[in-house]
Amino acid sequence: MHVKELIAKFQNYFLEQNLSDIRIFFSPGRVNLIGEHIDYNGGYVFPASLSIGTYLLVQKRTDNKLIFVSENFPGKSYERSVENLYFNEADGWSNYPKGVFDAFKTFTNVELTGMNLYFWGNIPNGSGLSSSASIELVTATMLNEVYEQHIDKVELVKLAQKVENHYIGVNCGIMDQFAIGMGKKECAIILDCASLEFDYVPLELKTTKIVIMNTNKKRMLADSKYNERRSECEKALAIFQTKLDIQNLCDMNLDLFDINVSLLEGHDVLTQRARHVVSENERTKEAVSALRNGDLEHFGKLLNASHKSLKEDYEVTGVELDTLAETAQLQAGCLGARMTGAGFGGCALAIVEEVEIESFIAAVGVIYKNKTGVEASFYVVETGSGSTELFGR
Ligand code: GLA
Repeated sequence: MHVKELIAKFQNYFLEQNLSDIRIFFSPGRVNLIGEHIDYNGGYVFPASLSIGTYLLVQKRTDNKLIFVSENFPGKSYERSVENLYFNEADGWSNYPKGVFDAFKTFTNVELTGMNLYFWGNIPNGSGLSSSASIELVTATMLNEVYEQHIDKVELVKLAQKVENHYIGVNCGIMDQFAIGMGKKECAIILDCASLEFDYVPLELKTTKIVIMNTNKKRMLADSKYNERRSECEKALAIFQTKLDIQNLCDMNLDLFDINVSLLEGHDVLTQRARHVVSENERTKEAVSALRNGDLEHFGKLLNASHKSLKEDYEVTGVELDTLAETAQLQAGCLGARMTGAGFGGCALAIVEEVEIESFIAAVGVIYKNKTGVEASFYVVETGSGSTELFGR
């Protein structure tokens, strides 16, 4: 949306305000190309920040009120004070920015003043493209700039993850916040989640584009299933650690895993989970090399293998994601497709030849509708920059 339109929307809500001191911030959504469910296992992930995201318009107030407004969520606006930042279920979506205010206050000790805050986003909610991490990072970036704290971006990323883990109560890894905070246009990030070392890899997709396919299925039980997978991984790790000196499942390569897998005998589910984690880590490294070498065919095949592993070993897909990814894989011009994000609903992605995109969307859409009774949505996405100030200083 154009800056002028955003300011007009802000004005609708905060009529009495002088507009000269409005500042505007942006944080993207993210798509993970490959490296799924391994950020919390010390593995490599390969996400990219998108051009869609969350805009935040702010203005300081002279009192201590925080007024959170958004048209994207049910429960448009919430009013709290800077002294009252505790989590409250009834505060709905505003718990995300409120949690960031709370963590920022503790981290910096700055004296917060009131603010008018207008959020507007074009990431479909609940789609697994990280709309919540985007809100967290746009708020953290804003606070850092407005209060001139010069906090390093990676620290803001960690602060946002902490909010998700301890304030919201979702035990996520660091991938989403990192991709959103540190993203770069036309690049994906290869991130080692054990050390947080990272590198930008130019996303040179030649004549293809990334198509995101939304199941439009609400992610049922996603948080509890997510936490269940995490604890299964912890159990598998603890068993390997009885013999191996490792900190994370991803410290093993496939050879080491194969040699030691008998330690998991009698624990079939844990064996499956660990096999996904170790193999996905290898696929991710291979996918980055393939992309660097311009071998998109191979890159696509690794995406397909990733989906299969998430379906059969990690069991986080379900009929909707399987139908989208597996149907996509069969279409002309599709180099590869897989679920992206936590799974259990949400989105899949496909790499598709540009000239075939129209017929691809039509064909996958019909088959998906016939099988599930639900209409899928498709977005041909572009990459975008990480969290930043757009306007105002
Ligand atoms: C969610 C979490 C991430 C990551 C993915 C799965 O998006 O927030 O930390 O674990 O699921 O790869």
